[in-house]
Amino acid sequence: MKVTVVGAGAVGATCADNIARKELCEELVMLDIKEGITEGKAMDFLQSAALLGSDTKIIGSTNDYKKTAGSNVVVITSGIPRKPGMTREELIGINAGIVKDVTSNILQHSPEAIIVVISNPMDTMTYLALRSSGLPKNRIIGMGGLLDSSRFKYFLSQELNCSMQDLHAMVIGGHGDTTMIPLTRLATLNCIPVSTLLDDATLKKVAADTMVGGATLTKLLGTSAWYAPGAAGATLVEAIVRDEKKVIPCSVMLDGEYGHKDICIGVPVVIGKNGWEKIIDLKLNEEEQAAFDKSADAGRNMNQALQL
Ligand code: LAC
Repeated sequence: MKVTVVGAGAVGATCADNIARKELCEELVMLDIKEGITEGKAMDFLQSAALLGSDTKIIGSTNDYKKTAGSNVVVITSGIPRKPGMTREELIGINAGIVKDVTSNILQHSPEAIIVVISNPMDTMTYLALRSSGLPKNRIIGMGGLLDSSRFKYFLSQELNCSMQDLHAMVIGGHGDTTMIPLTRLATLNCIPVSTLLDDATLKKVAADTMVGGATLTKLLGTSAWYAPGAAGATLVEAIVRDEKKVIPCSVMLDGEYGHKDICIGVPVVIGKNGWEKIIDLKLNEEEQAAFDKSADAGRNMNQALQL
């Protein structure tokens, strides 16, 4: 197995770190446009490999896509992160050009790759990568829902004082502060509905904190977060390379599911060696469906700003 992570900023480097620690592939390429950064980060990681017990071969590449040739999975993290007070949507102008270029360069050398998109605005960048490449829809996966679900579990665990491993909870919809939909009704603590354990006001607060989870961190850090986004990227890579058939909320192209088509938005999908293999078309209640429709409308508006 060969995996490439494009973009060696904090998110890309953390993603690569997680992939290498878990030995998800024999060969891992880190690519960035900044001279020397991936070569340096690859060497730094490899100097920790004896301590960590990782035998993954890591190759740094300053914008040389030949080194990425034959990758089975490629994670795109390129682009600028948001600054405090910015929405993910404001990044579209700069990041669209970058993501389009990266996708095209990657596919020239790895025509069979499955692509995981992390760059923001994530749903729009996923749609762009798919539409500009013409790839089969199952090969492009946007990562946001997995990250948002992990944050949802964190906030639930704070209230429940429980192990996050015991929580099943999902965020669907867009990966935006106002467009995500934490599915509180379906969240469970080891099969026990959390709605029977927490009162309404607490559940609403958990959902609200989840939705601005990324923005809260951006305010604290002065830039966007990296540990959870990087780990979520690596978790998706793991599900693909190990053909896990895990159900993970991801941004994928809908074709009538959830009442929408021609849009990439977060829904639960089965992830395996072919990318996303199946959409789980949940029956939402009226309130959830209305939120989903609103989220999809916002996503469609964003997609209109793309030059395809
Ligand atoms: C976040 C960015 C990566 O939510 O979208 O932290």
